[in-house]
Amino acid sequence: MTNYLHVGSVHGVAEFKRHLQDHKIRIPCDEEIVVGDSLLAETSRLNGFTIGNRFAIHPMEGWDGTSAGMPGDLTVRRWRNFGRSGAKLIWGGEAVAVRHDGRANPNQLLIDETTRDGLARLREALVEEHRQTTGSIDGLLVGLQLTHSGRYSRPNASGRPEPRILYHHPILDKRVGLTPASSVLSDAEVRSIIQAFHRAARIAYEIGFQFVDIKHCHGYLGHEFLSAHTRSGNYGGGFENRTRFLREVVEGVRSEAPGLEIGVRLSAFDLIPFQPDPLKSSPGKPGPGVPESFDDLLPYRWGFGVNENNPVEHDLTEAFQFMTLLRDMGIKLVNISAGSPYYNPHIQMPTLFPPSDGYLPPEDPLIGVARQMEATRAIKQAFPELLVVGTGYTYLQDFLPNVAQAAVREGWCDFVGLGRMVLSYPELPMHVLEGKTPERKRLCRTFSDCTTAPRNGLPSGCYPLDAQYKKSAMAAQLNEIKIKRQKGSVGA
Ligand SMILES: Cc1cc2nc3c(=O)[nH]c(=O)nc-3n(C[C@H](O)[C@H](O)[C@H](O)COP(=O)(O)O)c2cc1C
Ligand code: SF4
Repeated sequence: MTNYLHVGSVHGVAEFKRHLQDHKIRIPCDEEIVVGDSLLAETSRLNGFTIGNRFAIHPMEGWDGTSAGMPGDLTVRRWRNFGRSGAKLIWGGEAVAVRHDGRANPNQLLIDETTRDGLARLREALVEEHRQTTGSIDGLLVGLQLTHSGRYSRPNASGRPEPRILYHHPILDKRVGLTPASSVLSDAEVRSIIQAFHRAARIAYEIGFQFVDIKHCHGYLGHEFLSAHTRSGNYGGGFENRTRFLREVVEGVRSEAPGLEIGVRLSAFDLIPFQPDPLKSSPGKPGPGVPESFDDLLPYRWGFGVNENNPVEHDLTEAFQFMTLLRDMGIKLVNISAGSPYYNPHIQMPTLFPPSDGYLPPEDPLIGVARQMEATRAIKQAFPELLVVGTGYTYLQDFLPNVAQAAVREGWCDFVGLGRMVLSYPELPMHVLEGKTPERKRLCRTFSDCTTAPRNGLPSGCYPLDAQYKKSAMAAQLNEIKIKRQKGSVGA
């Protein structure tokens, strides 16, 4: 185990602030939470629509749809929980694949004519729960995240990668069983995927979603376009070509679904892939994360938002160019994330306890939080006209409300996005807005079971803290898998 500060053991906000100061971690944090006139309850405007407060719920898949891509009972329950959170911006619900071959797992939701009614009911369940628990759906904006999983497609069996790639990656190819002879999507295949996004957006619009997110994060296809420096043809090479996918998707969405808002979730920066330190790992016991060796890979041309001369550092130059493009295209909704849960999770989802196939934190996870917050601040301050959602807040645990309030007050972001925290404690945003003291026992402590479970073919969910999962047969299965893994008798 690591020696990093356990946020849950800190006594009070003053001690937390002292820790940040002593370790030179720049995270704004208010001592007092304002009740009544809370900044987090302020509205904001999106092209004539008023969004009712400053909490957003990030998209989170549950691996619990049917094999046909329809929502299952656990999916509906999760979306209801998103509704009962009280957050007024629901950023996409979860990643929904626009085609079967682009599903990240055989239970990921799919959007096409066959699943239209199921997705409509899913949205309605969320909205109805929001109405019942908060008293009104005024100011509620609900989007759907559209994706193709690209390199991380596993549409037919959870243990069987069926990657669809845009270029060969010197490190990541082997992690999904690709060889130099494996095929790359042709420009014609890319165009057919773009058309699938258009069809999906039309359906989303017709069933009542107010916006779609054209997912550009976490190593999936949209994100891979942005790093396709080495690809030839229309969709690779210079910035113009690497963003052609976005432009063509947006153009078609606007003609198929005029009136539908568009948002983009972006991994605004990245680092080279990490792995558990081979010198400090043993079977079932991954060591701390270390970067893959890159001596032979300079300049590093396989990332977006990476310093190509030193790929353990990020670089926001192209993220700024990307924001300029969004602004010029009239897209105002942006959700800033980073990296990928597959190859550098510590920058994407700061965590103290890694998932089964992860690595121990290579840095205090609070540094990961600060890195994401700082990138978001830089973007928001350079593009004040954009509505910017920040990511990475769950790790702040007891101090999430204090940091959220300070971040909005100081203009670091417009919305505080919550991921894992709403799996363990869906009502947290509501409780903060009502001035209630958060229930400590329900705060996510980043145990990572919500990631470990699906990586082992089980539905995602908060196994340690959510009563529905805690004592279930799924929890028993997960426990068995973890015990076997600790004994080193199964691979990650
Ligand atoms: C179980 C799980 C599923 C996720 N699924 C998605 C997804 O479908 N789309 C997406 O953009 N991010 C997804 N994420 C990432 C989260 O949206 C979020 O960026 C991340 O958890 C960091 O935020 P947090 O610190 O508040 O948890 C997922 C995260 C988790 C834990
Ligand atoms: S399983 Fe629960 S406590 Fe663990 S990281 Fe996920 S939401 Fe948090």
